[in-house]
Amino acid sequence: MTPAIIQLDHVTYAWPRQPRLLDIDAFALQPSERVFLRGPSGSGKTTLLGLLGGVYLPVSGQITLLGQNMASMSSTRRDRFRADHIGYIFQMFNLLPYLSLVDNVILPCRFSRLRRDRALTRHPSLQAAALDLLHSLGLRDPALLQRPVNTLSIGQQQRVAAARALIGSPELVIADEPTSALDADSREAFLRLLFSECAGSGSSLLFVSHDASLEPLFDRSLSLADLNRVPTITEAL
Ligand SMILES: Nc1ncnc2c1ncn2[C@@H]1O[C@H](COP(=O)(O)OP(=O)(O)OP(=O)(O)O)[C@@H](O)[C@H]1O
Ligand SMILES: [Mg+2]
Repeated sequence: MTPAIIQLDHVTYAWPRQPRLLDIDAFALQPSERVFLRGPSGSGKTTLLGLLGGVYLPVSGQITLLGQNMASMSSTRRDRFRADHIGYIFQMFNLLPYLSLVDNVILPCRFSRLRRDRALTRHPSLQAAALDLLHSLGLRDPALLQRPVNTLSIGQQQRVAAARALIGSPELVIADEPTSALDADSREAFLRLLFSECAGSGSSLLFVSHDASLEPLFDRSLSLADLNRVPTITEAL
């Protein structure tokens, strides 16, 4: 069997001076798999994604990305490894307002030579690679591409963030609730674009959302409550 893209064994995590938040016995994501992960607000979804990317280390247990144990790496090596192999679409997109739209997309290639080289095997320049992705994601208008990123609509920013996660074909794309601000039709259209781009580059996709209506579109769907042995305390809003 091909090794998992990411594998988690007996992992626990607590934020400093807080009770245990996560206790997960096992979770694995296979190559090219598209997995939907749901859970209520505050249940630890974003924290789990940070653990999967080695942004934080578990209190106990082991997380392996492409067969390598993240805790055994130096923090510099871990940062490099993450940049090489994971594309993130953040909950708040985190686009940089002082960079142009295309430079926002190219950013991961500044941190990862591997992704830069991969992008350049298929395109004459990083700009061309970024534009190709932006076009595939429906951002074609040259005037729009010149606009400061903080003047774009949420749906447009989301597609820039997706292009940034996809550039240089990382093995794993992690999307943290990127569709919550969109209407149902735009949400599904965005997902179809994301799926087709992930399939084109052979990336696995881990997609986190509260929105259960998106579940049927995925290969597999999981609830964090089923994975996590720490019960979720949901606060009434
Ligand atoms: N940097 C941090 N320091 C301390 N506690 C944190 C930190 N980030 C998150 N937490 C706490 O961990 C818990 C889980 O937060 P997390 O952001 O992982 O939830 P979530 O499932 O992603 O929620 P949402 O659906 O609202 O995005 C919350 O109680 C939160 O207050
Ligand atoms: Mg979150």
